[in-house]
Amino acid sequence: MKIFNTKAELEQHLSVLKHKGLRIGFVPTMGALHQGHLSLINLAKQQTDVVVCSIFVNPTQFNDPKDLELYPKPIASDIEKLESVDCDVLFNPVTSEMYSENEQWALDLDGLDLLLEGEQRPGHYQGVTQIVKKLFDCVQPQKAFFGQKDYQQFLVIEKMVKKLAMKVELVMCPIVREADGLAMSSRNIRLSAEERKNALAIYQTLCWMKDQFGHCDLHELKALGREKLGKSPGIVLEYLEICDGDSLIEATDQNPQKLVILVAAKLGKTRLIDNILLK
Ligand code: PAF
Repeated sequence: MKIFNTKAELEQHLSVLKHKGLRIGFVPTMGALHQGHLSLINLAKQQTDVVVCSIFVNPTQFNDPKDLELYPKPIASDIEKLESVDCDVLFNPVTSEMYSENEQWALDLDGLDLLLEGEQRPGHYQGVTQIVKKLFDCVQPQKAFFGQKDYQQFLVIEKMVKKLAMKVELVMCPIVREADGLAMSSRNIRLSAEERKNALAIYQTLCWMKDQFGHCDLHELKALGREKLGKSPGIVLEYLEICDGDSLIEATDQNPQKLVILVAAKLGKTRLIDNILLK
């Protein structure tokens, strides 16, 4: 695997490959890689010729400086993992390579960035779109792969790609779960044994709600889900919503086209998100 720390080196390497007609697949990450990330690399390998992964803990998407400070950065084991799945290129820049000092700009994302996660984490999606735009500009991939776990992130990036008419196809890849159902996340390693056990209630509640779907109206289903998860030991529920799967506007029984349940909860200091498609 080739490792680059600067945009210039990466762009030069990729331009040679692009001249040969090879298709570039891109998997942007913040490192602390787990099976979920590796499944994205595997999918990218199946669908494109050269796979580039980036590892960059993007400061502008952290609204809480403590969260940024605590974010794990196990670069040596990340490199081993990427090599184990035959990733072709790793881009691992420092912050000054990606941002100039006091850089300030924002995209109009039609308010999609202000809902749900955006409400809990002001500025988060402006930070995400800033870095993803910069990364897309330098990698210029044919396809970019993102996990369904960050469902809203996918929609926000899709919005940016459409608005800026970027030539990249976005691929949403299924959530990868631990054997007991917990969605894989770089944050899971911060959970104590007790918190890890309590966290299972998140996916259990989502599955229970999916089973109940159709047996009561959406308003009641949401209330029951909130009550069930809110009462689970060690869980502080931030939000649980049933939304239209494209706009993320609260779903009603009158417009059930594509429905998704999205949830965020805290276990101690660790914040987890998860979701499930109802249809
Ligand atoms: O999903 C992530 O890991 C990050 O939000 C991303 C897309 C790599 C941007 O920093």
